[in-house]
Amino acid sequence: MIRLFAPCPKFIPLLAVFIVSCSLPLAISDDTDTDREALLCFKSQISDPNGSLSSWSNTSQNFCNWQGVSCNNTQTQLRVIALNVSSKGLSGSIPPCIGNLSSIASLDLSRNAFLGKIPSELRRLRQISYLNLSINSLEGRIPDELSSCSNLKVLGLSNNSLQGEIPQSLTQCTHLQQVILYNNKLEGSIPTGFGTLPELKTLDLSNNALRGGIPPLLGSSSSFVYVDLGGNQLTGGIPEFLANSSSLQVLRLTQNSLTGEIPPALFNSSTLTTIYLDRNKLVGSIPPITAIAAPIQYLTLEQNKLTGGIPASLGNLSSLVHVSLKANNLVGSIPKSLKYGMGGQISTKGDVYSYGVLLLEILTGKRPTDEKFNDGLSLHDRVDAAFPHRVTEILDPNMLHNDLDGGNSELMQSCLLPLVKVALMCSMASPKDRLGMAQVSTELHSIKQAFLELSSGGKVV
Ligand SMILES: *[C@@H]1O[C@H](CO)[C@@H](O)[C@H](O)[C@H]1NC(C)=O
Ligand SMILES: *[C@@H]1O[C@H](CO)[C@@H](O)[C@H](O)[C@H]1NC(C)=O
Ligand SMILES: *[C@@H]1O[C@H](CO)[C@@H](O)[C@H](O)[C@H]1NC(C)=O
Ligand SMILES: *[C@@H]1O[C@H](CO)[C@@H](O)[C@H](O)[C@H]1NC(C)=O
Ligand SMILES: *[C@@H]1O[C@H](CO)[C@@H](O)[C@H](O)[C@H]1NC(C)=O
Ligand SMILES: *[C@@H]1O[C@H](CO)[C@@H](O)[C@H](O)[C@H]1NC(C)=O
Ligand SMILES: *[C@@H]1O[C@H](CO)[C@@H](O)[C@H](O)[C@H]1NC(C)=O
Ligand SMILES: *[C@@H]1O[C@H](CO)[C@@H](O)[C@H](O)[C@H]1NC(C)=O
Ligand SMILES: *[C@@H]1O[C@H](CO)[C@@H](O)[C@H](O)[C@H]1NC(C)=O
Ligand SMILES: *[C@@H]1O[C@H](CO)[C@@H](O)[C@H](O)[C@H]1NC(C)=O
Repeated sequence: MIRLFAPCPKFIPLLAVFIVSCSLPLAISDDTDTDREALLCFKSQISDPNGSLSSWSNTSQNFCNWQGVSCNNTQTQLRVIALNVSSKGLSGSIPPCIGNLSSIASLDLSRNAFLGKIPSELRRLRQISYLNLSINSLEGRIPDELSSCSNLKVLGLSNNSLQGEIPQSLTQCTHLQQVILYNNKLEGSIPTGFGTLPELKTLDLSNNALRGGIPPLLGSSSSFVYVDLGGNQLTGGIPEFLANSSSLQVLRLTQNSLTGEIPPALFNSSTLTTIYLDRNKLVGSIPPITAIAAPIQYLTLEQNKLTGGIPASLGNLSSLVHVSLKANNLVGSIPKSLKYGMGGQISTKGDVYSYGVLLLEILTGKRPTDEKFNDGLSLHDRVDAAFPHRVTEILDPNMLHNDLDGGNSELMQSCLLPLVKVALMCSMASPKDRLGMAQVSTELHSIKQAFLELSSGGKVV
């Protein structure tokens, strides 16, 4: 707003026009022509029912202004360095002429209706570091030739119908940081080389048809932060050293056919916050937590064949938000310190944040992990966005089944809204914005009083 009052603001766009039009004549070169032709070729070979690419016109020279096109004009020649046509309703095969955009560093074709095979011409994009073809209808194999893209850092191919094996050669792209291949029909085994990529942080191969064992070499990666191999047909044991990475935070091996015992080393990690091993064929007992101040928040071991008791040390997990052990053959009692509950004692060690997230889960009936990890919006954000006027939309219907007057009942006003508020204030991203434990306790006490008054007055059935 303030900028509106800056002197001669109208000159600024004008200046930009001058700069562009003055540099244009200098800019025409063979490579520039090739980029322009490649873009026009791309457009001519796909279907664009919404006219999203109407600015891509053969009568317009300055392709750097075309929708979704970004240029590098720091040099004397204009080159396309990024193309982003995500969510533009485009369909058809990805045209091979895309391979002529030889300076491109970022290509985002995600969330369209592209079909057919991934063109092997992508190998010619030597500068590419970001490639996102997720959420399309691509088929066939992941081309071996992608390994020529030696600068590739992010490869996103999730939500397609890709088949065949994950090419071993992909692990020659030594700068890979994210390999996101979930929700496809990929087969064969996991390339062992993923464990030796020095910068690989995120490996998500979930919901495919991968077979064989988890390569022990995966444990030699020191860069892993997020590993999701869930929803495949993996067999064999969980390699003991999988948690060797000093940065691994999330390990999800859910819904495979993994056998053997849970390696105790997993429970001795000082970085793992999320361990999902549910729906496998794991045997033996639950190892004790040996790490000092283990940061585990989520631990799911349900639907395995685990035996023995529940180790008392599980109660030492001060950050624990959710634990699920059901459908095993466990015996004995549940350690006292594990028993959370509405109105139950808040562990003095349990921090306010975990309590806030737990309360949000109870109130909404959702888990923070219901959405995909990298969706961005946390449970806190979603509840916060709805608070207070649309709060009925996000509360667990079971909480509301007696509330027929659209969120204006006394129960809503005196109990639910204040509870949601407490939950939100406990789960603020920054610790200094969170309520103190004493305050939480005071708030909960008065909410409980209000609740008791309502119920004794027969207002809550
Ligand atoms: C632009 O494309 C149209 C149809 O695709 C063609 O008829 C016309 O000759 C082209 N014009 C130029 C300047 O290339
Ligand atoms: C622009 O191009 C030059 C030469 O191709 C390259 O060195 C530079 O890194 C590029 N700049 C950007 C922002 O990509
Ligand atoms: C592409 O554009 C969309 C918005 O249309 C944006 O959400 C996305 O982050 C962009 N992709 C890249 C790689 O910048
Ligand atoms: C395409 O246009 C239709 C109708 O105007 C609209 O509903 C749809 O959201 C558009 N899709 C995209 C991807 O822009
Ligand atoms: C790439 O550009 C060259 C030279 O401009 C052209 O001959 C060739 O047909 C183009 N390739 C594709 C696949 O369009
Ligand atoms: C790829 O694009 C999809 C949809 O636009 C987006 O949700 C996802 O985060 C992107 N993947 C990566 C790795 O950037
Ligand atoms: C991704 O695919 C799954 C099924 O494979 C589907 O349930 C989900 O809605 C898809 N996501 C998007 C954003 O298309
Ligand atoms: C994991 O760490 C252990 C102990 O530090 C070491 O002996 C082992 O070789 C490592 N395993 C791998 C696969 O790197
Ligand atoms: C747990 O890891 C530490 C090093 O991080 C090691 O010293 C200790 O022996 C390990 N304990 C068990 C029981 O594996
Ligand atoms: C819990 O942690 C304390 C302090 O680190 C330790 O003394 C105690 O043995 C642990 N309890 C269990 C059951 O591991």
